[in-house]
Amino acid sequence: MAAVELLSIVLDDNEPLEIGLQNSSNFDDLADSDRAFAHLLVKSCLRHLGEIDTAIEQFLNKPIPEKANRVRHILRIGATQLIVLKTAPHAAVDTSVRLAKGTRLAGFSGLINAVLRRISELETLEAEDAARRSTPDWLFESWAKEYGAETAADIAIAHLSEPCLDLTVRRSPSEFAEKVGGRLLPTGSIRLESASNVTAIDGFQEGEWWVQDAAAALPAQLVREPSGKVVYDLCAAPGGKAAQLFSAGAQVTAVDRSEKRLEIMRRNLERLGMSIELHCADVISWRPEKLADAVLLDAPCSATGTIRRHPDITLLKSLADVRRLAKLQLELIHAAAKLVRPGGHLVYAVCSLQPDESQRVVNKFLLNNDQFKRDPVTAVEVENISEFITPAGDIRTLPSHWKEWGGLDGFFAARLKRSTRS
Ligand SMILES: C[S@@+](CC[C@H](N)C(=O)[O-])C[C@H]1O[C@@H](n2cnc3c(N)ncnc32)[C@H](O)[C@@H]1O
Repeated sequence: MAAVELLSIVLDDNEPLEIGLQNSSNFDDLADSDRAFAHLLVKSCLRHLGEIDTAIEQFLNKPIPEKANRVRHILRIGATQLIVLKTAPHAAVDTSVRLAKGTRLAGFSGLINAVLRRISELETLEAEDAARRSTPDWLFESWAKEYGAETAADIAIAHLSEPCLDLTVRRSPSEFAEKVGGRLLPTGSIRLESASNVTAIDGFQEGEWWVQDAAAALPAQLVREPSGKVVYDLCAAPGGKAAQLFSAGAQVTAVDRSEKRLEIMRRNLERLGMSIELHCADVISWRPEKLADAVLLDAPCSATGTIRRHPDITLLKSLADVRRLAKLQLELIHAAAKLVRPGGHLVYAVCSLQPDESQRVVNKFLLNNDQFKRDPVTAVEVENISEFITPAGDIRTLPSHWKEWGGLDGFFAARLKRSTRS
């Protein structure tokens, strides 16, 4: 029932899954293992929603009335168990029927039983078909146009699996990998298959690491020779990139306009024992006393590069959001550029797969600002992983990259240099 409620919060109230999880009182009463299972059920359902809804639809003789929408969610959670988690049919059907019995939806228990039994007899779809059904057309088409149809299909397939958990460690990554039974990735992150409780991982209290996808760890690495440099980290919370810059010896000042997110960042930095000056301000109007050697702008974006971790993004974001964000990103990059000293660097990053939020923002900015030029990233800077570098010299990772390691988030990062003439 907790899973059904959470699904309703996401699909009926358009709330992000993580927010729904925090606000769902049903979850508070569950034991840890039940909570993890209910969360997995909802995440898997959202990941495969198109496939699940198609399966349900074909066995309904007439539409489910609007006021009985909860029946649809019960069917979705039941179908998730059958199609995705491969739960034994009698268990998945029985628990779903019991969710309706004894409630005002009792009259639908026969329907739930019949539809789920039929679904349990369906053949498993090929991954490509399953992935395509659960990817909105506007997203799939934008990826096909930018990366080609084959890569778009690979990206959609990558979204069907739960991602691993990546950590960035402060020191001795290979020793740490051995200690926690993780894999040391070529770019220095540590990858664990999964962890239900991150605070139980070795070194948490001691602040030896923080959670950060391997792709999210790349933009901060583009800041050239950070040790001793003044670096402004703009749009910084919850602080993964600021922590990397601090570890690399930079004098970091971080800015974010969300006090709530800065509070999370404060707690993270406290655990890590890092002292970073934090400002709650809008980047567009923030005016520090001096210019920085380097500015990192990790702009707010549609986050379509993180669909593996947040499958609700495909349902909550639209083309209109991408267009609105692209305008904001252009304003932000112009504001960030004003804070870079002559000869300094600006790194622009987003966790979006959408070209409108990535290279097009940078290209438009460069067209209107002749003080800056691209300072192309070379493959040597990313351990010779040339698939991460675009012909223009930007970083572009895709969830379909690095199949042998289990993929990574989609990230874009460009490094620009301000001319030495002021
Ligand atoms: C992609 S997240 C940043 C992630 C962070 N850099 C990290 O590595 O942990 C984007 C952040 O931008 C902040 N933000 C959005 N618009 C802003 C603005 N105009 N000024 C300052 N911060 C902003 C949001 O509050 C959010 O925390």
